[in-house]
Amino acid sequence: MNARSPFFWGSATASYQCEGAWNEAGKAESLWDRYLHEAHLENGDVASDHYHRYREDIELMAKGNQNAYRFSLSWPRIILNREGDVNEAGVEFYSRVVDACLEFGIEPYVTLYHWDLPQYWQDEGGWLNPAVADAYVRFARVCFDRLGDRVRYWATFNEPKWFVASGYLIGNYPPGLNDPQLAIRAAFNVMYASACCVQVFRDGRFQGEIGIVHSFSPVDGIDETLETRIAMRYADNYCNNWIMDTAAKGEIPIDLLADLNKRYDLSFMSSRQLDVIADNTVDFLGLNYYSRTLVKPYTRGETSIVVNNTGASFKEKPRVVLKDWFEQVLDDPGMEVTAWGTEIYPDGLRRGLLDVYNRYHLPIYVTENGIGVVEEINAEPIDDEYRISFMRSHIEAIKAAMHEGADVRGYFAWSSFDLYSWKNGCEKRYGLIGVDFDRDLRRIPKKSFGWYRDFIARESTAEK
Ligand code: FCB
Repeated sequence: MNARSPFFWGSATASYQCEGAWNEAGKAESLWDRYLHEAHLENGDVASDHYHRYREDIELMAKGNQNAYRFSLSWPRIILNREGDVNEAGVEFYSRVVDACLEFGIEPYVTLYHWDLPQYWQDEGGWLNPAVADAYVRFARVCFDRLGDRVRYWATFNEPKWFVASGYLIGNYPPGLNDPQLAIRAAFNVMYASACCVQVFRDGRFQGEIGIVHSFSPVDGIDETLETRIAMRYADNYCNNWIMDTAAKGEIPIDLLADLNKRYDLSFMSSRQLDVIADNTVDFLGLNYYSRTLVKPYTRGETSIVVNNTGASFKEKPRVVLKDWFEQVLDDPGMEVTAWGTEIYPDGLRRGLLDVYNRYHLPIYVTENGIGVVEEINAEPIDDEYRISFMRSHIEAIKAAMHEGADVRGYFAWSSFDLYSWKNGCEKRYGLIGVDFDRDLRRIPKKSFGWYRDFIARESTAEK
């Protein structure tokens, strides 16, 4: 536990998923706005209307005894155009959110980028264009300048692996590309941008800590054979190490680089950029944990990379198969799964936290953890015993990891309230508080909200 802060018991959201007000008060279009409008898919135009109801939402968090709120800033709400003009109304909105947090005794824990790239930068090639990395750093600087007097915890990116793989390798997220060479280039630009952002934070002597949030999925193998162990190493490089090693150690795993170098053109990585990455490692790691990745050696097929684009298809996960590398096993028959087929596997969090801590020796925050289900929003409180049991078992896993030595400093339930869940729309609900999307967007606490409130109260008493 940090001398400065108590353990954070909070919850999390992301701008596009909850704010709504997609074109209000000067906000520019994001790539998700454009993509979903063009595809005529359910979108986040209104979402949970947090833009107008943030105060009520933050007050509810405080009533739930939460002492931290993880949210993200919408870049197109803050920066109007490629020239970098600042939208004062956008900055003021976030300033009010931060002030509301502080007023209610809640630590604001801010993610700079949770996927809503301005469309005016997507028009210039998105993360394939190194100029976007520079623009991102200028945007981050505006955020530090304007909010850094009150915000002490910053994350450069939410889940680079997820948005790069989905947007550039699998193609089920915008910009909808399906090309490993492009995915590698986008990933590198993102990780370089993250390191530059850390550099600007340190050079500006802003107070606090800066880290990155990773979609963490510890890798298990189906058996103990040598082939499976090799597949596991490939999978771990793909699922975890290329983000965490790059951000926390300042280096891309050398065996991963060697493999990629055999198949792809890596000449766009300059030694100057690699130096910036090496010199600007993060203060902490944020881990979003939903489940593990179970793998076996790849044995069939001809194509070098096979990804099934499940797109909006409901209750199916994109499956990744990297030939000669690994294949993800989706159905371990012994495991309990969610309605979306995700294994419920708390012990992966315990082991994963220990592994990550022993590997990087950095403070860790569990920045997302939760269960997505279809729920009826009719009774009050909404009966979500399954969420309580999910949270309880994962929090126990965290405590066990801490007991065994991992330096974990916070837990954020995903999500604070129901919100828009990307291609799953609003039907997949994660919130501790229900939102009546069909009628008046009313907030209706779930049983899990009360359980978490009472749990935090007991924890805080024990801490004193
Ligand atoms: C994570 C994302 C978050 C949310 C959860 C369910 O990958 O960070 O935005 O959609 O999944």
